[in-house]
Amino acid sequence: MARLLLVSNRLPVTVKVEHGEVHVTRSAGGLATGMKGPHERSGGLWLGYPGDVSRLPPEQRAALEARLEDLRYVPLHLSTGEVSRFYEGFSNGVLWPLFHYLLDQVPIGERDWESYRRVNERFADLVAAHHREGDLIWVHDYQLMLVPGLLRKKIPNARIGFFLHIPFPSAEVFRILPWRTQLLEGLLGADLLGFHTLSYLRHFASSLLHVLGIEANVDRVFTEGREVRLGAFPMGIDAAALSTLAGSPEVDAEAQTFRQPGQRILLGIDRLDYTKGIPRRLLAVERLLEREPSLRGKVRLVQVTVPSRTNVEAYQGFRSRVDELVGRINGAYATVHSVPIHSMYRSFNERQLAALYRAADVMLVTPLRDGMNLVAKEFVASRTDDDGVLVLSEFAGAASELADALLVNPYDIGGVAATLKRALTMPQGERRQRMQNLRQRVLENDVHGWAQSFLSTLEEQSEASSGRSLG
Ligand code: F6P
Repeated sequence: MARLLLVSNRLPVTVKVEHGEVHVTRSAGGLATGMKGPHERSGGLWLGYPGDVSRLPPEQRAALEARLEDLRYVPLHLSTGEVSRFYEGFSNGVLWPLFHYLLDQVPIGERDWESYRRVNERFADLVAAHHREGDLIWVHDYQLMLVPGLLRKKIPNARIGFFLHIPFPSAEVFRILPWRTQLLEGLLGADLLGFHTLSYLRHFASSLLHVLGIEANVDRVFTEGREVRLGAFPMGIDAAALSTLAGSPEVDAEAQTFRQPGQRILLGIDRLDYTKGIPRRLLAVERLLEREPSLRGKVRLVQVTVPSRTNVEAYQGFRSRVDELVGRINGAYATVHSVPIHSMYRSFNERQLAALYRAADVMLVTPLRDGMNLVAKEFVASRTDDDGVLVLSEFAGAASELADALLVNPYDIGGVAATLKRALTMPQGERRQRMQNLRQRVLENDVHGWAQSFLSTLEEQSEASSGRSLG
């Protein structure tokens, strides 16, 4: 296998310095977890931001750098200004809401583009400095869309792949961006561009046509004498590992402690993000309790929200909105013995999450828009007992794979409430059949197969391109 240079905004570990103490934690999100295996196997490097270490004294900083080097992580340090403009401003203030169709969250003003461009240049410089002939470069996600083009200029024969972990929006939405040309040209520097679903790929191709006048030939684009390949690669998880953990006697015992006799558990697990559909999910539970008095006191939504992007303005107000709704619904429907919404705002470790997945009767994954949503797949992989019902938004990439989930429109609160009732009353035989089908899909299409299929397509494509340019 060729040496792999993984490039992502965030390293899979995040370093935090609190009261002079260094804490190294696992980064949240599917990208960090998903790329762990390919990184370990290829013996290559992973380049990205390690968190703010600027306040560390020199000896501690040197020790940290040595620890990162052992893990083959190459840190790219961002200044406070870069974090605020490149990461919080352009990546998460502009691209994130726009790519998720939440246009009202996109701020007015153009000040952060320049920082996005400069940080992408810094990433490309760092990759070029570590690149050796024969390496495969795999750039990840919307924060780094200019990197393939910048690298192509620096190393014309480099083998470059890019994978987008979020949706690629309809061309009508994408072309709103004043920087649409630069972003598309940046992406076209890659040999292979990967998306979670075929519809994201089609949106990208139609953006190329509308914005650059370039027509794709199904899954190929010719530009500047090169061929760029487009592919749909639905990302998976490390399903076998999670299944083993979730089926262990310890996790089973922990799951038992979460259950209460005569009470059903609905479960939501999300980063605290306005794309995840949490307020509407809460309203759907409220609607269910309104319509079905017999369920009051017998159903509880356990909602875990993991802190995320806490310095981005849109995320700050969002937290209090969620808290207010939880308070209102609990105020109306709590009894002396139970609360309908059990909300927790913090990170949980893998074992605790597996126990929650095992304890749930119904898993609610109802984002307004989501590139894939790996939580849905984690729930399925955890259900070694072939039980539990998955309620899944039709606007998550995972919906195009997980046909045996109960699909919902998360904007239709009454519809979600009705589906919840259906999930809670589904006969055991149907639950079992659906879960077995879901498990087969999730276990067969795991993250290892995903990475392998992306990387072998990249090798094939770059060989074909170099053959053509030699010929
Ligand atoms: O999957 C989308 C994504 O933005 C990843 O790029 C990222 O690692 C994850 O979500 C978590 O987001 P952040 O790095 O902004 O905390």
